[in-house]
Amino acid sequence: MIKIAVMGFGVVGSGVVEVCDKNGSSIQKRAGEEISVSRILDLRDFPESPYRELVTHNFEDILHDPEIAVVAEVMGGLEPAYSYSRALIQAGKSVVTSNKELVSEKGAELLALAKEHNVNYLFEASVGGGIPIIRPLHMCLAANEIDEIAGILNGTTNFILTKMIREQMPFGEALALAQRLGYAERDPSADVDGFDACRKICILASLAYGRHIYPREVHTEGIRAVTLEDVAYAGDWGGVIKLVGRAKRLESGKLAVRVSPAIISHESQLGTVDDVFNGILVRGNATGDVVFYGKGAGKLPTASAVVGDIVDCVKAKGTIRSLTWTPSEGGEVEDYRRSPVTPYIRCRGVHASETVESVFGTVRALHRKDAPRDEYAFVAGEMPQSRVDDGRARLEEDGLEILSTLCVLDY
Ligand code: HSE
Repeated sequence: MIKIAVMGFGVVGSGVVEVCDKNGSSIQKRAGEEISVSRILDLRDFPESPYRELVTHNFEDILHDPEIAVVAEVMGGLEPAYSYSRALIQAGKSVVTSNKELVSEKGAELLALAKEHNVNYLFEASVGGGIPIIRPLHMCLAANEIDEIAGILNGTTNFILTKMIREQMPFGEALALAQRLGYAERDPSADVDGFDACRKICILASLAYGRHIYPREVHTEGIRAVTLEDVAYAGDWGGVIKLVGRAKRLESGKLAVRVSPAIISHESQLGTVDDVFNGILVRGNATGDVVFYGKGAGKLPTASAVVGDIVDCVKAKGTIRSLTWTPSEGGEVEDYRRSPVTPYIRCRGVHASETVESVFGTVRALHRKDAPRDEYAFVAGEMPQSRVDDGRARLEEDGLEILSTLCVLDY
């Protein structure tokens, strides 16, 4: 029998314990051994829980228990999760986690430490919840050079945008509904300002390209500024607005990495990923496009990925070498202003179309019902982000008011 511990008895942690219990016999067959949760670390007591006897407030009870071989860190946040994970790995225990904040900041270091101690640091649950994406990237797609990864990586924002698109529900109302349904956090900033999606694309890019890509290097925009007017213009273009995290290898060898709301064709595979679902497109140079789709959040989907990692740790004979990336040397990510982008701009002012053409050349004008006469929305050709920014500044100098800017992606 293999003993495991769970650190954090919140939504995901309780899901991990529940899945281990409920699916115990099939998990045992797949792991080759019985897996038993022997400790649960949390600051709180759970007097009503059938697992209350397992709860401890003392991390040392897990660290110094030689029988505990694998620990699920589902506490979230950088500290104390980082110190605890380091100590556990150094004590020869494998750690599995859903903690995208920690993996996106300290992944290279914790992976190296796990290799040094011949144990595993696995994080399938950190991206895409229950969707298998980490293991496919470093195992099944190992033959490929990855040209590009693009994902709808945050369920909360996808739910909000879906409400805006399908029901013309304004952003604020859709956010309040997401909060009522328990999708968005009370402080929804990590979701709506794009930080959560940023952490996830950093993890995928680090794995795909072999160097740690830090969230601070990635241009990140959220969806607060997206309006129903933009949704209508995107519809006229033949698309929908989604919050997309994207990492693309440029000809220079550098990576263009960004998180921003983007217009994508409603016929594309990512364009049909709605509600709280996530979708991740991986463009391999041998496979072409491979798309992963499913529930990117929630108690049991996320627990499924955590327990899958626990099973892998139990089966693995030592450290899994293909799951790795090295510390960054800096300079892997192309300067955002030099990265290519296809802009959508909505502006207002007299003679807007003539002014826009004088700045951006030929553009595609878009239309929506009941638009004010002086509103003008368009999609221009691909250009570096710096030209978009300079062009916007020139439009303003020429008396136009910029109402919104998005990018258009070619999926
Ligand atoms: N807040 C995240 C989301 C949870 O909405 O996708 C999963 O990481």
